[in-house]
Amino acid sequence: MVGKADALEQAMSDELDRRVVTPFACNIGADRGEGGSDRRPFLMGDDPRLPAMPARPTLIDFYKYRFAPAQHVLQSARLAMNNGSDEKVIMACLLHDISVMSLIRTDHGYWCAQMVRPYVSEEIAWAIEKHQALRFFPDASLGYEYPEAYIRYFGADYKPEPYIRAEYERARKHKWYLTSRLITINDLYSFEPDVFVEVEEFTDVIGRNFRQPKEGLGFDGSPTAHMWRSIIWPNNFL
Ligand SMILES: [Fe+2]
Ligand SMILES: [Fe+2]
Repeated sequence: MVGKADALEQAMSDELDRRVVTPFACNIGADRGEGGSDRRPFLMGDDPRLPAMPARPTLIDFYKYRFAPAQHVLQSARLAMNNGSDEKVIMACLLHDISVMSLIRTDHGYWCAQMVRPYVSEEIAWAIEKHQALRFFPDASLGYEYPEAYIRYFGADYKPEPYIRAEYERARKHKWYLTSRLITINDLYSFEPDVFVEVEEFTDVIGRNFRQPKEGLGFDGSPTAHMWRSIIWPNNFL
C-alpha cells in the first residue's frame, strides 16, 4: 500500500516534473499524525529498528551504525589519500557529506560544517561549508569541471541560487580556497561498486584531526551536540 506521505510526494513530484526526495528526518512512517485512536506511548530513546549505539559514541561509531555504508565519503577520502593530499583534505573529504547520509540534505555543506566545527580545525569546517557552492563552478586551472552528474541531477539549464554564486565568489578569493576546492576534486560521483572502504582505514587521520569528546558525540554539551543526538535518536517524539 502506498502511504499518504508517498502519495503526496508522488503528486508533488508529478506536478513539479521533478523527483522530490523525502527528507531522512521524515522517512519512517507514512502517517505522521499523532496516532489517532492509538493510545500507546510514543517512542522515546533507542529505536529498535536501528543499530544500538554505545553510550559514548565516537565518530567511528557514527560511521558504523548511522552513516553506513558511507561509501561516498569513504571512497572520496581514499581518493584524496591516493592523490597525496594533506591530512586536512582527507579529513574534510571524510566529513563533507555526512549530514546527507544521516540528518538533512538541503544546504548540506552548511549542516555538515556546523556539525563538526567544535571538533576540527576552522579550516576544515570552512572547506566543508564552501564545497557545496564550489561544486557548481568549474576551475580549469585545477582541472575541475562542472559535474556531469549535476546535469543528470538538476537538468542542463539549472542555475544555482544567487546566494550560492555569492558564496562561490567569496570563497574563490579566500586563503583556504584550495582546501575546499580539493574536496570537490576528490568528490566521487560514481562509486566503484567492487571497492569497499572501511572507516578504520582512517583511524589515525581521525585521531589527529578530530577532537573526539570523552563524553561521546552528543553528550559533551557542545553547541552542536543536539545534532549528533538527533542522529542517534532520529525518531524521538520530542
Ligand atoms: Fe557535497
Ligand atoms: Fe560529495
